[in-house]
Amino acid sequence: MDTVIPPTIEVHLAPDDLRVAMEADVRAGLTSTRKQLPPVYFYDDRGSRLFDEITRLPEYYPTRAERAILEAHAKDMVESAGANVLVELGAGTCDKSRVLLDAMQSCGRLGIYRPLDVSDTTLWEAATALSEEYPGLAVHAVVGDFHHHMDELGDEGRRLIAFLGGTIGNFDPAQRAGFLTGLAAVMRPGDRFLLGTDLIKDRARLVAAYDDAAGVTAAFNRNVLHVLNRDLGADFDPDRFTHVARWNEPEHRIEMWLRSEDACRVKIADLGLEVEFAAGEEMLTEISTKFSPDELREELEEGGLEVEASWASPGDEFLMTMAVRR
Ligand code: SAH
Ligand code: TRP
Repeated sequence: MDTVIPPTIEVHLAPDDLRVAMEADVRAGLTSTRKQLPPVYFYDDRGSRLFDEITRLPEYYPTRAERAILEAHAKDMVESAGANVLVELGAGTCDKSRVLLDAMQSCGRLGIYRPLDVSDTTLWEAATALSEEYPGLAVHAVVGDFHHHMDELGDEGRRLIAFLGGTIGNFDPAQRAGFLTGLAAVMRPGDRFLLGTDLIKDRARLVAAYDDAAGVTAAFNRNVLHVLNRDLGADFDPDRFTHVARWNEPEHRIEMWLRSEDACRVKIADLGLEVEFAAGEEMLTEISTKFSPDELREELEEGGLEVEASWASPGDEFLMTMAVRR
């Protein structure tokens, strides 16, 4: 009988690094002509919990669509990859990962699970739960940033590197190109990349997924202001900012903004900074790009990856793509 292997955690983001990056990002974002904030600051403990709620909302179809693909095809994926190591980027609560781990177990290939995420508490809770649920599985959690720590993905075994949830859609085109090139550079022959992407579809359905009736997405978007208040001594009044989700047709992406209802002046004490918001001024907080399968294939190729197989969910809502290094 396999015994429970205690999980390990490797931290590549010291609290100081995070702080220095946050100060620089927030200063740059709030002083630029079009104000914006990077999405990484959404995911403190409260933000991670709110995101988890988003994944269960009736309007938020991507999680269910991706899970349906995994449930139908995880075994083929794991078998064709021949993987005994599952690496997962931006793993969060590692919920859907269980479908891949189950498939590895039933193929007798359950070796190592290496989830990487910036959100250390969420990651550690998930790692602890998974090592207990899967005796014999070695869980090596990595606290890191997928824009900077692609060389921390471990070098053991034959790897299936999963990037789920459509998170790659949260990158702008330059970040996507940098990410894919960086990934291809650390992939070895035999490694597989498994990517989940949301597909272009009816605008109303897209907007609803990012502006739910219960207001959970709005609370998630505003959470970034609570984070700045707490961590940088800012004095945003989150209730005076409205959540806006809009489809940008030329860029085929949903954009999330926070609109300041009144003119206001916000102090960010720890940065010694004061910024003005005009009445109705909007600040960009997230993009969620939607793809067409052909464009995606081209982007992967430009990044040095070749598509081996892909699976669409019923109704072509969501796509999972398996790629190897070229
Ligand atoms: N994979 C999960 C979670 C997606 S939400 C799913 O499919 O449901 C995006 C996840 O990426 C969050 O867990 C967040 O903490 C993490 N994340 C955001 N920015 C990151 C970064 N720069 N580096 C690493 N992880 C990041
Ligand atoms: N990766 C998710 C997506 O693009 C992230 C996400 C879902 C999100 N809902 C959100 C980010 C609302 C910001 C606000 O679908």
